[in-house]
Amino acid sequence: MMNDEVTIDPWGSSQSTDYSRIIEQFGLSSMSNVKLNDPSRLHRRDIVFAHRELDVVLEAKRKGDPFGVLTGLMPSGMMHLGHSMVIDQVNWFQKQGGDVTIAVADLESTATRGISLAEGRKIASQEYVANYAALGLDPEKTTVYFQSERSVVQRLGFQLGKRTNLSELEAIYGFDGATNLAHVQAPLVQAGDILHPQLDEYGGLRPVVVPVGVDQDPHLRLTRGLASKTNWFNVSDAKMGLQVGVSVQEDNALIMGVEANGRVNKEKQKDVFAKIVAAISGLGFSDIMSNPKHGTVNIPSATPRDKSSIRMALLALERSMGGMGLLAPSSTYHRFAVGMTGDKMSSSKPKTTLFLSDDIATAEKKIKKSYSGGQATLEEHRRLGGDPDKDVAYQYMMYFFEEDDAFLAEINQGYRAGKILAGEMKQMCIERATEWLGNLSEMRDQTAHLVEQFFD
Ligand code: TRP
Repeated sequence: MMNDEVTIDPWGSSQSTDYSRIIEQFGLSSMSNVKLNDPSRLHRRDIVFAHRELDVVLEAKRKGDPFGVLTGLMPSGMMHLGHSMVIDQVNWFQKQGGDVTIAVADLESTATRGISLAEGRKIASQEYVANYAALGLDPEKTTVYFQSERSVVQRLGFQLGKRTNLSELEAIYGFDGATNLAHVQAPLVQAGDILHPQLDEYGGLRPVVVPVGVDQDPHLRLTRGLASKTNWFNVSDAKMGLQVGVSVQEDNALIMGVEANGRVNKEKQKDVFAKIVAAISGLGFSDIMSNPKHGTVNIPSATPRDKSSIRMALLALERSMGGMGLLAPSSTYHRFAVGMTGDKMSSSKPKTTLFLSDDIATAEKKIKKSYSGGQATLEEHRRLGGDPDKDVAYQYMMYFFEEDDAFLAEINQGYRAGKILAGEMKQMCIERATEWLGNLSEMRDQTAHLVEQFFD
């Protein structure tokens, strides 16, 4: 039987590249419907191909409201080109005005890779943050922290753990009875990473976007679900306009006016609904129908575009009443560049990628040997043309080294037409890689003194 389900394993060594199926199966939104004012190289080339609720963040940016960016790094090996894509995205969001927080997943690395906390700490600063600084992240607007040292992240993970169970983690991650419990905790800590920038002491309620490779989407699915489950008020589409539903839970029942014996305290309930109505009318709506008996409030004149501001007002209300008031995170996903050998890029297989610290001679050698989309003989190549979609040299220029879209289009066509040979493509890539790596290494020297400033 053919199994056409795609699985995503954030810790696995293979990764599906059937991106349209991934979008469909996991309910991602395609980036092709998103209009950006100032798209980056990764956006223009559809390398950032999908998102979840990115509009919430773009809307905040448009209105001049604050928004945050959070991502994380697993300190387990050397930083390679693939890792730089997340930083390209973070850079872009930082330029759009987002405040940036980066988690060093030292707990996850201990749990899943057997890296000690001390070792993780060293790798994070010498290898990752040194390159982040060189790649242009602004230390004034970026905070890097260690999971093991930010107790609030662990506490949040623990609290959110109440909202899920082993079956759900089995379904999302394929865990089973033999799964190490540190491994089970890792995604909960990651949920803590993702949500904690919204806490008052870390910037407060605001949209937070998580730029990652698509292998991390399971964590976002989990985290978004956990955040929604804690919400006291939910906004949904109604026949007319929008509807707010009240979610009575163990830890808010008394506040919502539901007593231990299940009896409803009408006064308290009235009070809660009056607060909801006040929060919504504060946004300028006048026609608001409150129905405490059904646990709903209707806003017939609201449109789907109002959803996000109503949601924010209700999260603020929830916080004022003692709840966590967590907004589900937004996310963006990038595709993976092919490994140089044609396999997946991996730090543990040096031939599959360029490390950011590779010297020019090493880079040149790897590119020369890289998988080519050319034909077997010169005669065939001239006649049939090459395939840039498979050609590592072309792909690396597209993903990393070449900013000029017109030039890329030109060599793409030239290759397909057999006018450009595989060796020539490699030579162009080598030239650009040499310049890129050379600049980076120079920048690393120039920004080395900034590295400490990134840590909280
Ligand atoms: N799990 C991520 C990885 O393997 C690292 C990570 C930890 C992370 N916390 C995060 C990524 C929060 C994004 C958001 O690389």
